[in-house]
Amino acid sequence: MDAIVITGNGPLEGVTHASGAKNAALPIIASALLAPGEHTFRNVPELVDVNTMFKVLDTMGCESHRLEGKKKNIVTIKVPTNVTPEAPYDLVRTMRASVLVLGPLLARYGRARVSMPGGCAIGARPIDQHLKGLQALGAEIELSEGYVEARAKRLKGGVVTFDCITVTGTENVLMAAVLAKGRTLIENAAKEPEVEELARVLNKMGAQISGAGSDVITVDGVDDLHPVDHAIIADRIEAGTLLVAAAITGGDILVKHAVPEHLEPVLQKLRATGCIVTVEADGIRCKGPSRVQAVDLKTQEHPGFPTDMQAQLMALLATANGTSVITENIFENRYMHVAELRRMGADITVDGHTAVVRGTARLSGAPVMATDLRASASLVLAGLHAEGKTKVGRVYHLDRGYERLEKKLKALGANIRRIKDPGGT
Ligand code: EPU
Repeated sequence: MDAIVITGNGPLEGVTHASGAKNAALPIIASALLAPGEHTFRNVPELVDVNTMFKVLDTMGCESHRLEGKKKNIVTIKVPTNVTPEAPYDLVRTMRASVLVLGPLLARYGRARVSMPGGCAIGARPIDQHLKGLQALGAEIELSEGYVEARAKRLKGGVVTFDCITVTGTENVLMAAVLAKGRTLIENAAKEPEVEELARVLNKMGAQISGAGSDVITVDGVDDLHPVDHAIIADRIEAGTLLVAAAITGGDILVKHAVPEHLEPVLQKLRATGCIVTVEADGIRCKGPSRVQAVDLKTQEHPGFPTDMQAQLMALLATANGTSVITENIFENRYMHVAELRRMGADITVDGHTAVVRGTARLSGAPVMATDLRASASLVLAGLHAEGKTKVGRVYHLDRGYERLEKKLKALGANIRRIKDPGGT
């Protein structure tokens, strides 16, 4: 098992870049199922989760191929006219986003058998809204032996009103609606940039979608879609994490390709802590003060503050001058990093959805354990600031969503390395 060892060594400085967005790549790869032929996706991050999604499609009979060397972020995928419309338990249990194949399979092949995802470290994460949305388009759905079995001769347009805002739920229903007969309205839709990006790709395939990025999406169903060549947007959460690396070390980092409109709430909070954040020609620059100021924050659906940046901001605020209050409104159990940050000297108490973070001038390095993807990132950030050595175990969580984070940080001056950790669990 790998671990990451960091020795805090002062300000990080220089130019780095954000890779392609994991949470945009996942639905886009699934959407290839809607259009037989050969697709080319560019700026595809080399991540465990992204590779799992290609594996899910390959298991069904598609052929994905990642190019090598400088072109390794280009992936081609050949989708045959007939696939085996099944996502098995062994793959879905390693990545719940595999459920994103449900909508496209149903729309294009009339049936889908997809293992029901279980809960995960951050919450129960049911998919009732995905299923309700597909049913509103005429799908017959049964749950049997741990699988969702869905059927429909041809989906019919309808009105889908989500009871809660769901990102992958919106994406699943959107992918189903593009080949349905007639018009679909998706109400209370997620407005995340990744949803807009998926709609952009589907429209490139020949779909007729308007309103993506607002809370009502209108889809006029078409009979057929064609393959695309598309470059995926930059990862706003990776970009945000790199900006926090500047903030927490009092450094100065330019993150190229970061899109300011996608990161507005994060930039606002960084500014409120005393960072100087500027928008440059092709990216965002953050210059951290010698010590940040406390700020309060609440996670919300986009355009609110993203839950996927909560753990990273908590690491930053653990070093602030003053007390911050963080409220997590999206997931019920997304404070798993708190116990580990405390091991590094952070003063944080949690009561339900609220965490009170009393800033400490200097965290101290310690062996800590990652519990999920963004928690791992927060521990790496804390390690960059801490006095002494931090060893972050269970780095496989980090590798699910960050493309060689330690290499990017090292190039900015961090004392960081990946080691084999035979004792790691
Ligand atoms: N929810 C339901 N029923 C549903 C769907 C969602 O009750 O049918 C609830 C969830 O339990 C949660 C809330 O609604 O409390 C929001 O969940 P959402 O469905 O929006 O989350 P998701 O689509 O499963 C995506 C990202 C997550 C990100 C969330 C929130 C992907 C592949 N994943 O998950 O990313 O945290 O949206 O923005 O897009 C990450 O990258 O680290 C990550 C966890």
